[in-house]
Amino acid sequence: MPADKRLVLAYSGGLDTSVAIRWLAEHKGYETIACAVDIGQTGPPNPQTTGEGVGPGSTELKRVRQRALDCGAVDAEVVDATAEFAEDFVGPAIAANALYMGKYPLVSALSRPLITRHLVRTARAHGADAIAHGCTGKGNDQVRFEVTAMAIAPELTVEAPIREWGLSREAAMEWAAARDIPIPITRASPYSIDENLWGRTAECGVLEDPWIEPPAEVWERSVDVAHAPDEPEELTLSFVDGQPVAVDGKELGLVDLIAEVDRRAGRHGVGRIDMIEDRLVGIKSREIYECPAAMTILAAHRDLEDLCLEQELAQEKRSMEGRYAQLIYNGLWFTPLKTAFDAFVATSQRYVAGEVRLKLHKGHAAVVGRRSDRGLYVTGLATYDEGDAFDQSKAEGFVQLWGLPTKVWAQRQGPGSGVKPGSAPDPETPA
Ligand code: ARG
Repeated sequence: MPADKRLVLAYSGGLDTSVAIRWLAEHKGYETIACAVDIGQTGPPNPQTTGEGVGPGSTELKRVRQRALDCGAVDAEVVDATAEFAEDFVGPAIAANALYMGKYPLVSALSRPLITRHLVRTARAHGADAIAHGCTGKGNDQVRFEVTAMAIAPELTVEAPIREWGLSREAAMEWAAARDIPIPITRASPYSIDENLWGRTAECGVLEDPWIEPPAEVWERSVDVAHAPDEPEELTLSFVDGQPVAVDGKELGLVDLIAEVDRRAGRHGVGRIDMIEDRLVGIKSREIYECPAAMTILAAHRDLEDLCLEQELAQEKRSMEGRYAQLIYNGLWFTPLKTAFDAFVATSQRYVAGEVRLKLHKGHAAVVGRRSDRGLYVTGLATYDEGDAFDQSKAEGFVQLWGLPTKVWAQRQGPGSGVKPGSAPDPETPA
């Protein structure tokens, strides 16, 4: 069929996006350029699989490219964006201690704006009219793709073939077979997996019962605590401007550093997360995340901030971190509030420099030491030993004035004045 329009599809190599190529042609009149963005999803070498580190030249990604062409794409591109992902997306998330609901390091949420950016670049390079993603209508990822596109390329149309088509896996396979579309033989997994440098996510299958413990096969980047080494392992992370720059004194780029910490922390069972999550579309879902590097690096970074940030700044920063994580989760990466938060965070990181010593042991990455030339810890002020430079005589007046409003309240209105706090409920308030 002659296609009059051209579209760039975020291509994973899986069944859905492979079949979508033909569907977009038949139902929407698009010719498709497939775009596979490598953000380290093939993962660093891990303790449980033999997975070699792979890049865009790897046989796996060559296979993905060929598969797209075999399924009818007019062109297929593989973009290596791992370093860009680390620098532009993971780095800021580290600086902001970004954890959604205080638990989830935003593995997928961080990647969608980057993937969208590449879809847009490819679309512009090829004069395409639209971009497309393979998300269903039930998740957050559709929101992240589309809202990012609205922010950076409002002129482009976004197609969502899987959401629109709504076919089951079986029906999609039959539909493909009837058209002689080569169905990709992927390792059959009962789970929906998303993976990149910052971590791995798993949903579906037996995981949908929140009472059931995740089976061992779900995990890939970490060992079970029961099989983790009995001996703890020390790991020292160095930071400059709030970014990790070295492991045990050895300087590494962010991609290699994350891979190295992931491997070492994973060996001790660090970074397994099992949570009930509030999706933007209103669903509560059970999510499994495996993020050894993320949880280790964030623990170290937070600890170093406690040492280096002036306390008013530290408090304000902590209070915005949850909101910042929520913006990322909700697909609002390229928005004015996020940009303003970034400026605040960047300023705060100026003196977040130094070293953090961690002990990896049986599922924990525990901070056991920290030091910084720019730190605000003053031994003379903190010590209870000889050399105390803190003038305790000043404390008395300080406490008197600090407590003055409380004292005046107590005398005039508080428990001492005969009015029991909370004893006069609003009659409108239901019991
Ligand atoms: N619930 C997580 C999030 O919204 C993980 C999503 C994983 N995406 C996927 N297509 N499997 O960030």
